[in-house]
Amino acid sequence: MTSPASGADALPSLASLKAAGRPIVMLTAYDFPSARVAEEAGVDVVLVGDSAAMTVLGYDTTRAISLDELLMLTRAVRRAVTRVPVIGDLPFGSYEPSDALAVETARRFVTDAGCDAVKLEGAGPIVSRVRAIIAAGIPVIGHVGLLPQSVTSPDGYRARGRDVEQALEILADADALAAAGCAALVVEAVPARLTAIITRRVGIPVIGIGAGASTDGQVLVYHDLLGLGEGRLPRFVRQYATTRDTILDAVRRWAADVRRREFPSTDESYGIPDQAIDEVEYRLRIVDARRHS
Ligand code: KIV
Repeated sequence: MTSPASGADALPSLASLKAAGRPIVMLTAYDFPSARVAEEAGVDVVLVGDSAAMTVLGYDTTRAISLDELLMLTRAVRRAVTRVPVIGDLPFGSYEPSDALAVETARRFVTDAGCDAVKLEGAGPIVSRVRAIIAAGIPVIGHVGLLPQSVTSPDGYRARGRDVEQALEILADADALAAAGCAALVVEAVPARLTAIITRRVGIPVIGIGAGASTDGQVLVYHDLLGLGEGRLPRFVRQYATTRDTILDAVRRWAADVRRREFPSTDESYGIPDQAIDEVEYRLRIVDARRHS
């Protein structure tokens, strides 16, 4: 059996970035071209998030994506990313029921999709799943605060930990996941000052999304960063491009060119010598004449 990898040793590149005080840059990607861009842009780690359910598969929540769908996307990302770790995201229903199922699913992300680690959501009973996966030799990233897999309606995406009881619960979850051996922790949609306490306490890299600036790193969803999606964005998203508008404009212009018969041009078409095409026409006439005689 592989020796258990846990804590700071499990994802050495993230641990050393934290140790050096250099912010960790994590970006989601869900296909070959987006993953190539992420790596070429120099991100430190790529997460094939189950946010793919909504960003690329059009489901209403992240709960809808199947293990096979997510594995297929993860394999595409792995083919693109050669230099930095790729994290698989265990989808809803693929790890909660038992430690054995959690280990089996995590193994599929490593063996079938080439992941370096897996991420899963929550604490409480999930801490046992985390321990089991780590004992099987697979590094785990925990996830606390807003847990999208627990959200069943659009108004469920509110920030978490804004009252004392919830803040203490999130702190306890973070402590438990760190003690269980998580290699890093994603903290989503919690007040910045609460994240600062978590980051101070846990000792492992803390990567925030909507969790303020005091973390060891930040993660964003590729489609949010690039303005590829539709609809309202969470307040924590900074959009660095409006790519959807650019794409929409390009497709509209192409469709108009087709309708005006301005696409394709001669330069965009393949040629054939006059003699060859004349011969084709000649032989076709013979074939047609025979057919009709
Ligand atoms: O699925 C995802 O993209 C995530 C990030 C938001 C952390 O879990």
